[in-house]
Amino acid sequence: MLRQTIIFSFFVLTLLVPLTSSASGESTYKSVCIACHAAGMNGAPKFQNNRDWASIIKEGKIHVIAEAYNGVRKMPAKGGKPDLTLEDFSEALIYMVNASGGKWSTPTEQEYIKIKNKLSKLSSKK
Ligand code: HEC
Repeated sequence: MLRQTIIFSFFVLTLLVPLTSSASGESTYKSVCIACHAAGMNGAPKFQNNRDWASIIKEGKIHVIAEAYNGVRKMPAKGGKPDLTLEDFSEALIYMVNASGGKWSTPTEQEYIKIKNKLSKLSSKK
């Protein structure tokens, strides 16, 4: 009985982990990005509009996260929320991409290092 309970608990945990990580991308989207990306304000790529997102998705995860977090044209840096962490921003972006024709996964530690390198180059140009 104890053994079954332990096995069952592990099973539940493995189900919960991916659910909680995608919920945080969703909740950041709903509290920050939705303001512009739901309606496509100022030319923002629209949520769930695969056509709007196709060319962005092609540019690749590392490039797009760094550019968008840094701010690009009418897209405000950090989605206009100065205390938004790179990790929460990335999760929200990945949530939007995956709802709009893409298939991105959470950046690995290695990928975060590349994103941060790109970011420091971008911000030194400002
Ligand atoms: C105040 C409005 C606003 C908010 C809030 C906002 N965006 Fe944007 N975003 C824009 C606009 C406008 C563009 C189009 C920029 C352009 O091409 O001129 C854009 C473009 C983008 C792009 C594409 C950049 C590219 O390379 O073309 C990404 C990615 C993005 N936003 C992610 C996010 C994420 C993630 C959030 C929430 C954390 C967010 N945005 C919140 C207005 C906003």
